[in-house]
Amino acid sequence: MSDMYTKHAHQYDAAIQNNIYNAMFERPSTIELLSHLKGADVLDMGCGSGVYANWILSQSVKKLTCVDASSDMINLVKNKFGPQVNAYVQNLNQGLPIEASSSADVIISPLVLHYVEDLVPLFSEVYRVLKPGGYMVFSTHHPFNDFSASPSSNYFRRELIEETWDTIGMPVKVKFYRRSLMEITEAISRSGLIISRITEGCADESIQTKCESTYRRLTSHPNFIFFRCEKLK
Ligand SMILES: C[S@@+](CC[C@H](N)C(=O)[O-])C[C@H]1O[C@@H](n2cnc3c(N)ncnc32)[C@H](O)[C@@H]1O
Repeated sequence: MSDMYTKHAHQYDAAIQNNIYNAMFERPSTIELLSHLKGADVLDMGCGSGVYANWILSQSVKKLTCVDASSDMINLVKNKFGPQVNAYVQNLNQGLPIEASSSADVIISPLVLHYVEDLVPLFSEVYRVLKPGGYMVFSTHHPFNDFSASPSSNYFRRELIEETWDTIGMPVKVKFYRRSLMEITEAISRSGLIISRITEGCADESIQTKCESTYRRLTSHPNFIFFRCEKLK
C-alpha cells in the first residue's frame, strides 16, 4: 500500500480536511447520494482517517463500523472516536470475513475501489453483508480520466498505474488500478446489486475562488465517478 496511507497517515488526514478534491468535490458528491442514516447500521469500507466517520456519527446512526487495510489509519480512527466506532484492520482483497451476513443498512466506500484488484468478490461480499433493502454508495476514479494514463492504450485492459501525487504537500508515489466502466458495472450486476444512480460529481462553486484552473478542470473533465447500488428486499 502507498506510504500516503501508512507512513503519512497523519499528513493525509490534515490535507483532506479542507482541500479541493476531497472536501469540496468528492465528499459533497458522495453525501448527496446518501439517505436514511438515522438509526442505521453503517459500514465504512476503506475508512481512511475517519473524515467520513465524523460526519456519519453526526447523523445519529445506530452503529458505525470502520475498516481499512492500514493500521495507521485505524489507529487514527480509534484515537478520534474511541468506542463510538467499531474500527479494525481489514484488507478488502480478503473480503469482509468478520461482518455477519445481512448486518448493514448502508455501506460506503469513498475513493477506495481503485486500490482493489478484483471487484467481483468484493461486490459479492457487499451483497452478503447488506440487509435486504440496504444500499451501498461509493466513489472511485473516473475510468475516462484514468484512461489518459494507460500504458497500453487498451481501454478494456485492467492496468496497475503508478503516479506521484502532491496531496500532502510533498510528492508521494501511489499505485492504483485503472479499469473500464464496464468492469465496474458488471462486477456490481453479477453480485445481485442494482445500480440506482451514477453521477460524475458536482464541483462546489467555492472552488472557483480557491483555484480557478482546478474549478475549470472539474467542471469540464471527468474526475471521479459516484455510484449508489441497492440490495432489493
Ligand atoms: C483515498 S483514501 C480514502 C479514505 C476515506 N475513504 C476518505 O474518503 O477519506 C483510500 C483508503 O483506502 C485504504 N485502502 C487501500 N487499499 C485497501 C485495501 N485493499 N483494503 C482496505 N483498505 C484499503 C487506504 O489505506 C486508505 O485509507
